[in-house]
Amino acid sequence: MLEKQISELQAATLVRIGAARSPEDLESVRVDVLGRKGVLALISKDMGKLATEERARAGKLLNQAKNDLESLILAAQNKFSAQKMAARLDEEWIDVTLPAPGPRPGSLHPITQIQMEIEDLFVSLGFMVLDGPEVETEYHNFDALNIPPEHPARDAQDTFWLTNGNLLRTHTSPVQVRGMERCSPPLRMIAPGRAFRNESVDASHEHTFYQLEGMMIDRDVSVAHLLYFMKTLLAEIFRREVTVRLRPGFFPFVEPGFELDIQCVICGGSGCPVCKQSGWVELLPCGLVNPNVLRISGIDPEKWNGFAFGLGLTRLVMMRYGIDDIRLLQSGDLRFLQQF
Ligand code: PHE
Repeated sequence: MLEKQISELQAATLVRIGAARSPEDLESVRVDVLGRKGVLALISKDMGKLATEERARAGKLLNQAKNDLESLILAAQNKFSAQKMAARLDEEWIDVTLPAPGPRPGSLHPITQIQMEIEDLFVSLGFMVLDGPEVETEYHNFDALNIPPEHPARDAQDTFWLTNGNLLRTHTSPVQVRGMERCSPPLRMIAPGRAFRNESVDASHEHTFYQLEGMMIDRDVSVAHLLYFMKTLLAEIFRREVTVRLRPGFFPFVEPGFELDIQCVICGGSGCPVCKQSGWVELLPCGLVNPNVLRISGIDPEKWNGFAFGLGLTRLVMMRYGIDDIRLLQSGDLRFLQQF
């Protein structure tokens, strides 16, 4: 009687184990069969009714059945874990023979890139590339450029003064002066570098920005020479002919002085947010070097004259790539920099 019950239970449990599709299914089989209120527990309750010698035999049988069922379920559980492990290995395997990804190379900052392009161009035109100090004397930054102490033009360049009377250069023009002090004419030079102004920073103003100064001193230099060099420069930078116009502009170190505008390269002159709907973008202050500036640096303005220009490299990069916030350029933000 008991044997029959047990063998039926074993058969039914085997069928359920075979049908189990997950460890959860198996667990419910285990609870139903071996649990505290499971089938085996029910059967053992009836043992109390048996005679003593019968009871011992039944106890043995039940114990045996319990052990058998337990190991069957355990084996099935192990099979599930093995499958799970195999699936995980399948998913997570690494091919150790693949080549390593290697270091990710950096790239040049867009301002450095444009600076190097312009340097190459001017070197090919016979210009030398000069460097000058970022901490300047008042003399080189202002006086020698025909901007004496009380001159209103000083107000146009909000200056970071140092306690010793020196300053952070407000433009790259002092390198012109240093160039004239060191070299005698004829002279062709450019000077790229950082300039500083005491500005409150917003999307179009930075306290630190990049300029590229240029100067040529020779005999009979005219505005036509200036225009030729500027158009060559701009065609190189924008990789196409650009239309330019000159407007009068005042800088004490040039006479006549100009603001050179280019027809907006973004909209082609029809008007867009970048050119504020005017079709023109102010890009390049320039002019013929004021005879006073030559004289101050010991060059005879009766014999020599020249042109000078100041190119805003930061502005140029913004135009070239359509960058609308100047602060990105010095942010050090890799998401920005990795695009170049
Ligand atoms: N140094 C001037 C500035 O930064 C620009 C400039 C350079 C103008 C050369 C004329 C000639 O404002």
